[in-house]
Amino acid sequence: MGTKALLGCPQNPSTKAVLITWEIILRGQPPCTISYLAETNKTSEIDCTDRRITWASTPDQSPDLQINTVALSHDGQYSCQLITPEGQFQERRDLQVLVPPEVTVFPGKNRTAVCEAIAGRPAAQIFWAPDGYHVTENESHSNGTVTIRSTYLWERNNVSAVFCCVSHPTGSKILSIEQNQGKGVTSPLYSLLTILYVKLTLLGIILLIIGYAFFQKRNYFRT
Ligand SMILES: *[C@@H]1O[C@H](CO)[C@@H](O)[C@H](O)[C@H]1NC(C)=O
Ligand SMILES: *[C@@H]1O[C@H](CO)[C@@H](O)[C@H](O)[C@H]1NC(C)=O
Ligand SMILES: *[C@@H]1O[C@H](CO)[C@@H](O)[C@H](O)[C@H]1NC(C)=O
Ligand SMILES: *[C@@H]1O[C@H](CO)[C@@H](O)[C@H](O)[C@H]1NC(C)=O
Ligand SMILES: *[C@@H]1O[C@H](CO)[C@@H](O)[C@H](O)[C@H]1NC(C)=O
Repeated sequence: MGTKALLGCPQNPSTKAVLITWEIILRGQPPCTISYLAETNKTSEIDCTDRRITWASTPDQSPDLQINTVALSHDGQYSCQLITPEGQFQERRDLQVLVPPEVTVFPGKNRTAVCEAIAGRPAAQIFWAPDGYHVTENESHSNGTVTIRSTYLWERNNVSAVFCCVSHPTGSKILSIEQNQGKGVTSPLYSLLTILYVKLTLLGIILLIIGYAFFQKRNYFRT
């Protein structure tokens, strides 16, 4: 969505078409026909309202079409037909418009983590790492996009942090969340590291004192 799309219609460069016809079928709209007659060098359109669909260059140069800014409404079938002195050629293209989902992860009610992929097309897939008990629901929107919501239960999984992986044809994303996020409570691993750090620091200070005392003693005996 939002990009430029080129709809190619293969043509043998040595034999120019006498007639080029594109038939466009979009959801909820009457079929639109764009045709070009070489003899008169004129384009005619029937039931075409979308000004974003144009010739890629000029039809006497190339039979290709282009969509300047692709929107969800451009999802559909595009068929081109060429009539040349050598015969008739036809090519059909199915255009699927991809919409990247908006991805979020947040703490839910009752000690859960919720990961959402909002209004993506096609529907995104959500995985949790480490894998564990979760419930996934989907909600289809009228514009053809789908929201996927997955809820991970901390109680049933006994982990302190998880990654929510959202897979989608437009690109995948990984987000992380900690069990006690936002409550200022640290995870067990972090506490363990803190204890170790404090203990090692204390040990270092004690060793320093012993070393110093030993050094003093040696100096004392020397003098
Ligand atoms: C057809 O018309 C276009 C302008 O509409 C012009 O640029 C082009 O040269 C014409 N081609 C022929 C073959 O007459
Ligand atoms: C949370 O748990 C309570 C009691 O177990 C339940 O009544 C409530 O419906 C739960 N809320 C959600 C959002 O699951
Ligand atoms: C959405 O949910 C329905 C039923 O809950 C399921 O049959 C369908 O496969 C799901 N679709 C996707 C894209 O996950
Ligand atoms: C599609 O509909 C959903 C829900 O109404 C909305 O959040 C989303 O922005 C829409 N997407 C597009 C591309 O129009
Ligand atoms: C959860 O993990 C901790 C340590 O990792 C363990 O002591 C505890 O028994 C586990 N609880 C359950 C219900 O498995």
